[in-house]
This record gives sequence, C-alpha cells and structure tokens, in this order.
Amino acid sequence: MTASRRIDLTVNGRARSIDVAPHHTLLEVLRDDLGLTGTKECCLVGECGACTVLVDDVSLDSCLMFAVEADGSSVTTVEGLATDGRLHRLQQAFLDTGAVQCGFCIPGQLIAAQALLADTPHPSRAQVEDGLAGNLCRCAGYEQIIEAVLAAASVTDRTGASATIDAAARTAPTGDRASTPDAQVAPQ
Ligand code: FES
Ligand code: FES
Repeated sequence: MTASRRIDLTVNGRARSIDVAPHHTLLEVLRDDLGLTGTKECCLVGECGACTVLVDDVSLDSCLMFAVEADGSSVTTVEGLATDGRLHRLQQAFLDTGAVQCGFCIPGQLIAAQALLADTPHPSRAQVEDGLAGNLCRCAGYEQIIEAVLAAASVTDRTGASATIDAAARTAPTGDRASTPDAQVAPQ
C-alpha cells in the first residue's frame, strides 16, 4: 500500500490541507476528497476538456495532473466562479444564450473561457474558437457557447462594477458547493 502524502493548496480561495495518494489525480481529489463535483470526469486522457480547472491561473486538464503536483498551488474550479451568490458573468451569459444543454461540458467550457478572457479580454470569434478548442461538447452547442463567451466579454461583471474577469476569479473566498450555485449550470 502506498503511503499518502499531505499537500497544501488553495481551492477557490480556501486553504485546504489534505492527505492524498501519490497516484491520485487532481481531478480525483477535487471530486472525491473535496466534493467539488462540478469538475467533470469523462475521457481521463486529456481529450475532452470536461475536467478543466485553473491551476495558478493556467487552465489545464485535471485528469492529467497528479494531485501532489498541485501542492502549494491555487486551484479554481467552476464552483469558484460565482461570488457572493451571484453568477459570474460567463455563467450568466451561458444561461442567457442557451449554451447549457445537458450541461456536462459546461464547467470545463466556463473555466477555459475564464482563462481565455483573462489573457484576451476582448477576443475575436476566432480567438474564442481557439481558446475553447480543447473542450468538446457532445450536444454540439458550440455556436451558443461561442456567442456566450463573446457576450460575456462585452459586458461588465454582474456586480455592476467594471471588475475584470481576473478580479472575479481571484476574489472567490466562499468557494465550495454549499455556497455556490454551480448546480444551476451543470449536473453533479
Ligand atoms: S476528463 Fe480530462 S480531458 Fe477528458
Ligand atoms: S452541453 Fe451537453 S455536452 Fe456540452
């Protein structure tokens, strides 16, 4: 039996210290140990993007990263997008444009879009397509998803302030499921 290892990381603004098996992925730890089931498990080989999270503001497939590699990092999952009970502007835009069908891919799409807008606040359609190229949607709702990201890029944050998407992501202290409405945009 392999000994577990203690890792310390910040998840959605909340410091977490957790014992993990060395072979467990970040995805497993987020879903199974921390109960953050907004991040979806699907292909497990880096093909679909359903498991996309931000690690130190970089979007990556959490199925491809060992949890121990995230030691000391700051992780943002879909549960960390909403702030004080208000949907992130990307979440609201996805709802407004009808981009959420079965919802399974939506957490990954939202996180990928978050990373895109952090780098490119006002992307072209081609840049959105490139930014979300690693996220598959079995419902083929790509048109609405692209429309949603473009719409989110064109409005200020729902707080009413001209907050940047960076600021929205980095001020998500409430974090976990009990205080966030991710269930409104994706199944568990
Ligand atoms: S579950 Fe990680 S890329 Fe598909
Ligand atoms: S909304 Fe169903 S897989 Fe994308």
